[in-house]
Amino acid sequence: MAKNKKVKVLSVYNIKGGVGKTAAAVNLSYLAAQAGWRTLLCDFDPQGASSYYLRIKPEDKMKPKKLLKGGSFAHKQIKESDYPNLELLPAHLDYRHFDLLLDKQKKSKSRLRAFFDGFAEDYDLIVIDAPPNITLLSENIFRASDLVLIPVIPTTLSLLTYAQIRAFFDQEDLPARRARAFFSMVEKRKSLHRETVEKYLQEDPHFFAVQIPMASVVEKMGPNRAPVPSYAASSPAARAYGELWRETAAVLER
Ligand SMILES: Nc1ncnc2c1ncn2[C@@H]1O[C@H](COP(=O)(O)OP(=O)(O)O)[C@@H](O)[C@H]1O
Ligand SMILES: [Mg+2]
Repeated sequence: MAKNKKVKVLSVYNIKGGVGKTAAAVNLSYLAAQAGWRTLLCDFDPQGASSYYLRIKPEDKMKPKKLLKGGSFAHKQIKESDYPNLELLPAHLDYRHFDLLLDKQKKSKSRLRAFFDGFAEDYDLIVIDAPPNITLLSENIFRASDLVLIPVIPTTLSLLTYAQIRAFFDQEDLPARRARAFFSMVEKRKSLHRETVEKYLQEDPHFFAVQIPMASVVEKMGPNRAPVPSYAASSPAARAYGELWRETAAVLER
């Protein structure tokens, strides 16, 4: 259990969509909450998949500008989930204006960290389901995060994107160790997947050891609207998310 003065911020990010960001963000948030971390999942992707999985609808009156100021308006937007220790800041279509909004602010690249620090009393962990793209919002998310987790499918294009993210961290002088990757949607029967995973796990120290398998039990998060470990705790995929959480927690607790 984390009893940190400073709230830890974990973001799940990739420029690409469809790589398993939302699946990881929801399952990790659930597992963190189960482990006793008071957890806030921020659904910053206007598509709202995390909010959907947790069965939460946004308030009508979202004002991103007011939200960023923190205080009672921000606290009022937060919803309880069906699970102990897990709350959600739901997605909203207006989050698509976040970039414009941040651009107008002082210290525009580090504005989000100040926002999260406003929740230090209430949570041990903030998890961000980040929208795809590289924008001012993503840069804010990188700067606000103690750990940026990057799901990578073991295919050529997914690895190309991963290299672009690493290059961006370099270029912006962000610490390389803050970004860690893990293999997502791994299909062991494909030799390309097997060979790619083996190579990267040997050569790239930024990869976690865990591999999240391609599994229909993960897709069932849609119809079930629930995290995988809550309805299929002993499945290989749930066990893999458990391992992902242990590796993540070990980095956050350092
Ligand atoms: N390990 C997995 N095995 C099978 N399907 C998965 C897995 N991870 C995600 N999916 C499915 O793939 C689609 C994209 O996943 P999602 O987590 O929404 O990706 P992202 O948030 O990166 O766009 C969803 O339909 C999801 O159910
Ligand atoms: Mg998503």
